[in-house]
Amino acid sequence: MTTTDLLNGAPNALQDAAKNHLWMYFTRHGNFANHDVPMIVRGEGCYVYTDKGKKIIDGLAGLFTVQIGHGRTELGDAAKKQSDKLAFFPLWSYAHPMAAALAERLAHLAPGDLNKVFFTSGGGEAVETAWKLIKNYYKLIGKPTKHKIISRALSYHGTSQGALSITGIPFAKIPFEPLVPGGHKVPNTNFYRAPQHVNHDEKEFGIWAADQIEQAILLEGPDSVAAVFLEPVQNSGGCFPPPPGYLDRVREICTRHDVLFVADETITAFGRIGETFAINRFGVQPDIIICAKGLTSGYAPMGAMIASDRLFEPFSTGTSMFAHGSTFGGHPVAAAVAMKNLDIMQDEKINEHVREKEGIFRQTLEKLYNIPIVGNIRGEGFFYGIELVKDQKTRESFTPQESERILRGFISNELFESGIYCRTDDRGDPVVQLAPALIADEKQFGEIEVILRNVLSKANSMI
Ligand SMILES: Cc1ncc(COP(=O)(O)O)c(C=O)c1O
Repeated sequence: MTTTDLLNGAPNALQDAAKNHLWMYFTRHGNFANHDVPMIVRGEGCYVYTDKGKKIIDGLAGLFTVQIGHGRTELGDAAKKQSDKLAFFPLWSYAHPMAAALAERLAHLAPGDLNKVFFTSGGGEAVETAWKLIKNYYKLIGKPTKHKIISRALSYHGTSQGALSITGIPFAKIPFEPLVPGGHKVPNTNFYRAPQHVNHDEKEFGIWAADQIEQAILLEGPDSVAAVFLEPVQNSGGCFPPPPGYLDRVREICTRHDVLFVADETITAFGRIGETFAINRFGVQPDIIICAKGLTSGYAPMGAMIASDRLFEPFSTGTSMFAHGSTFGGHPVAAAVAMKNLDIMQDEKINEHVREKEGIFRQTLEKLYNIPIVGNIRGEGFFYGIELVKDQKTRESFTPQESERILRGFISNELFESGIYCRTDDRGDPVVQLAPALIADEKQFGEIEVILRNVLSKANSMI
């Protein structure tokens, strides 16, 4: 069937195609035995539209991705222009202008000496790349036993076997074990769930959490630990900002033990918290930044690992090389889209907009605290998690069965039916995650609040 046949075919042709042939990610396909697959056919600004013409507020910017909003034809124009000129050429010992220009631009935007840009097709591939680079680097500088990675409970870093080993979500890992050896986990920075001895002071909690990293390095042996991977604001688990002083202390610990600090900014880069790189808000210098998603606002697939000069140095002379790459990394069309996206973000002052409006976003969401099921609202910029509880006072969470019934069985669908696309997640405690396009303002914040209020109030009565 051609695209035209399919699009102009019987009313259910696309549903049938999706149900019979499309293998969706992290999806319980059984859910669609008696239901249509939600089919998104168009986007405009902060909204998307279904095949049935329903307007939905995109409360997750696709997947923390569509920074400048849907329907920006300039990005398609940039893609076409590049495709007409040079649709494809690989970066295997050859360069093309867009990859070179974008690499230079990212190096300028990245903090300190993060000057070497290795392109990938997405975030997980950049995480995988970083781990390989780190292992290779330590071999080349005479520390061949350094290979292990410390990362945090509940964190998500991608689905390939290395990235999954760094990921801290048991259900996503267990079916695929054994994974790449060497991934070790430490507590994350969910202050709402801090252990009792440090749950009264955020700074103290931050010091404790950072010290868990040092403990892990010492227990594993500094000669074996190569790097710490963390997101400046952790997504999975429901948006954990770093407590004051936490990232500085992690930096100190890493430096003390010659362990590299990798900031996985797959979500947080490109304006999500009002900075091109979130790590700049916290004033900490990493050795590597991982980025993807917002780099192109999702108009083309692209990611990058941005590494320091120090990490590149052993590969810079003689016959040495980093024996790694892919066909599509640094794709000319994706690079052209990224360049245009960064132009737009700069011209339209997207970071400034997020900084100006983030307080209002927070205040609007915080109105939801008068619904008893709302336990904790946390985040930065346009990036928030709302943790749901059975009891606001005791912070008692749902049992797995209650989570299944209330979160998956009701809230998730009801939110979409009520006109918002966002994510409900119970990889840790149950949360609703929000990350609208970075052009959102009071209008969308208000709409989000109204829908959430309605749905969460109903969910509250189901407890
Ligand atoms: C922090 C983080 N790292 C890595 C990834 C994986 O990125 P991708 O899906 O582009 O491979 C994600 C995806 O959401 C992420 O949030």
